[in-house]
Parts: sequence; structure tokens; C-alpha cells
Amino acid sequence: MPIKIEHLNYVYNQKTSFATAALNDISLEIREGDFLGVIGHTGSGKSTLISHLNALTRIQSGVIFVDDMDLRPKKIDFKKLRSKVGMVFQYPEYQLFAETVYKDVAFGPENIKLPEEEIAKRVEEAIGLVGLDFSSIKDRSPFELSGGQMRRVALAGVIAMKPEYLVLDEPTAGLDPRGKTEIMQLVKNIAATCKSVIMISHNMDEVAEYCNRIAVLSQGKLYGVYEPRELFRSRELLKSLKIDVPAVTALAAGLNERGFNVDPSIINEEELIEAVRAEYFGRKAQ
Ligand SMILES: Nc1ncnc2c1ncn2[C@@H]1O[C@H](COP(=O)(O)OP(=O)(O)OP(=O)(O)O)[C@@H](O)[C@H]1O
Ligand SMILES: [Mg+2]
Repeated sequence: MPIKIEHLNYVYNQKTSFATAALNDISLEIREGDFLGVIGHTGSGKSTLISHLNALTRIQSGVIFVDDMDLRPKKIDFKKLRSKVGMVFQYPEYQLFAETVYKDVAFGPENIKLPEEEIAKRVEEAIGLVGLDFSSIKDRSPFELSGGQMRRVALAGVIAMKPEYLVLDEPTAGLDPRGKTEIMQLVKNIAATCKSVIMISHNMDEVAEYCNRIAVLSQGKLYGVYEPRELFRSRELLKSLKIDVPAVTALAAGLNERGFNVDPSIINEEELIEAVRAEYFGRKAQ
């Protein structure tokens, strides 16, 4: 099993009067080929959970294996782990720090002491993959770029490490609809080169479109892992956890309530268009 999490617990400020239980007995397996969505209300523990995967947050109790790497011992091979697990934090543009775009993207590969030519190759490739023009951007300061460009540079830094696992904390937060689609397209392209992807999102349209499984967290507990259709069909569950449905699902349900024969568990646009078309022509033929 690529990533295995067993009985993971985490308490911030342990043994103080500010102690906050953030994770409670989480067990979860991430399979090869998974594009796993992680959803849940604010404060439900999503970021705490994923930050364990590159050992930024250390295990207090429980077990995590990433392939054959046991993350429990105090001393682990951080370099190996961090080249295996690429982590894109929320608002990754705030993590940029170097004088030039080139140096920023090269930081990770330099840190794991790759040969100079390999670094140059990876940096150029990664910058191209995120849709930026290498020769015109490489010597610019990352801080004079637009927000969207900065986020691309930050993503390039992760791609340059050629991670086997890609972990993303709300990659489209704060972007306009077009920026969201562009970044998700990039993520999809990178995902094709990885074993699995884990993505936190508050955007149910994205989760429904890109994820094959969805882990639902609630107050530090894993409520369940669902296939998108299964989850968005479970109205009572979603209501009790205050989770929205994708826009197309809401539209399909609305049409259904108004007497149209449209399956209310539709989760993508094509299906909705097809259902409306079938209903329209069906009615016409009557
Ligand atoms: N550095 C910290 N110190 C103390 N408590 C923290 C810290 N970070 C998170 N917490 C608490 O741990 C719990 C889980 O937080 P976490 O950030 O993992 O949630 P989240 O699901 O990622 O939320 P959001 O959707 O708002 O990003 C919350 O109760 C939060 O207040
Ligand atoms: Mg978070």
C-alpha cells in the first residue's frame, strides 16, 4: 500500500492548558492511482493530517508508512521523504523566497544534492510544465510576478523534485474561476506523473470533477471515505456535516424537484446536459 495511516492522533500544545485535539484515531489508506480529496469543515484537521505526510508535523501517536518508510522514528531520512512527497501548502506563493525564479525552483533539487546538469534540466522542464516561458522568467524576481504566476512558480518548485506523491492544501484558494481551472489543469497534468495525489479542497465542484475518492473529516475524526457519486447522493450526511454539493448536482436536484426526470445524483456537466436533452426530447415525443 503506497500510504498507510493507522490510528493517528494529534494534539496541539500537548500537556498545556491550551491543548487542542486536532486528529482523533485516523486510519486511512491511499492507493496507487488515487486522487484523494480531503474535505471537512474549517478546523476539522485536514491540514494537520496532510502535514504529517512529509513529516512537517511529527507523529505523536499512531503509524504512518509512505511506501516502506516508517515515519515514526525521530530520525528519518527527511531528504528522501521530501523528494518522495511533494507538498504544496495553502497560498504557496508566500513560500517563495529566492532572488530569481530559477533559484527558487532549483532550491529543492539543490538541497538533495542532484548534479548541476540534472538541476538545470529539471528547473527548465518544471517551469515549462507550469505554462511559463523559461527564458523570459528565469531571472526575474518571483516577487514581481502576478499572483497566478507566483503560484505557478511555487508549483514548479514541487514538480522539479519529481515527487511520487503530490499533496495539495487548497491549491485554488483565492483564485478567480479562470485561474482555478488553469491551476487544476496543471495539477491534473502533474498527477499523471505521480503515484497518487491528495488534495484538500473546500470546492465541491473540483472534488467531484478530479477525485476518485473523498475522505470526509469532522472534528478531527475521519467520518468516512466515499466515491464522489456516493457522497453527493447522501443528502442527509452532507446536511449534517454542512458540506455543499457541486453546482451541477444542486441544479439537477432543483430540476428534479420541479418535476423534470433528471437524476439528482448527477455530478458532472456532461451528464446533466445528457439528462436534460433526454428529458426534453422524451417530452417532445409524448
Ligand atoms: N499551530 C496550531 N496551534 C494550535 N492549534 C492549532 C494549530 N493549528 C491548528 N490548530 C487547531 O487544530 C485543529 C485542526 O486544525 P487544521 O488547521 O488542521 O484544520 P483544517 O481542517 O485544515 O481547517 P481549515 O479548513 O480552516 O484550513 C483546529 O481546532 C485548529 O484550531
Ligand atoms: Mg487547513
